[in-house]
Amino acid sequence: MIRLGINVDHVATVRQARATTAPDPVTAAALAELGGADGITVHLREDRRHIQDRDVHLLRQTVQSRLNLEMAATYEMVAIACDVGPDCVTLVPEKRQELTTEGGLDVVSARDWLLPRIDTLRAAGIVVSLFVDPDPAQIDAAVQVNADCVEIHTGAYCDAPSAGAQMAQLHKIEQAIATAQRAGLTVHAGHGLDYFNIRPVVALQGIVEFNIGHSIIARAIMVGMQQAVAEMKALLVR
Ligand code: PXP
Repeated sequence: MIRLGINVDHVATVRQARATTAPDPVTAAALAELGGADGITVHLREDRRHIQDRDVHLLRQTVQSRLNLEMAATYEMVAIACDVGPDCVTLVPEKRQELTTEGGLDVVSARDWLLPRIDTLRAAGIVVSLFVDPDPAQIDAAVQVNADCVEIHTGAYCDAPSAGAQMAQLHKIEQAIATAQRAGLTVHAGHGLDYFNIRPVVALQGIVEFNIGHSIIARAIMVGMQQAVAEMKALLVR
């Protein structure tokens, strides 16, 4: 079975819109696990725009499956990860102005400064995954910096403007999986996947885990809307 990790950042985005306590991504994570999630992913951003430190600490205590902490490879974040002890850390590039993680990590250019940070995380018993574009050079570099896994960025496949372009991106993903497997890396994949575009990616052999956020949180809002309105309506009785 392929593992499904659920990214609950967007639950925190709604909470932060009012700077209040609801909806709580910790509760959402528990419900996701009841629905069959094999892991919970949160991205603790340097600007704390959605997930807060408190969420990560509570999730470490409550997640029954696997906790995957997405983060930039800064010393501040490495220290937090070593303190919290997630099962896995996924290192991602981070830009202040972006709406979401835009591209994969440039491991080729960052080799020298990534290596000691990855070593620190692994010495703390944390599995280290690098979020990379489906580019063999990046995957080779991931091996050189002692990563355990790569998470292949599926965004270009998901955003491809035509069926032909999408097929070309799918082929790149397939080749990236083969390169990673040959090098002994575990392969994860994610970004932009939804209920429609995931099928061809699932059909590729070798991906052991998908990390999905936006499409599932968006669907959860829709399938829960009817009940949420009905519950409030039931209270409007004098
Ligand atoms: N994997 C990584 C490394 C990400 O940064 C994100 C977005 O936070 C995801 C997976 C999930 O992407 P989406 O929300 O588009 O499903």
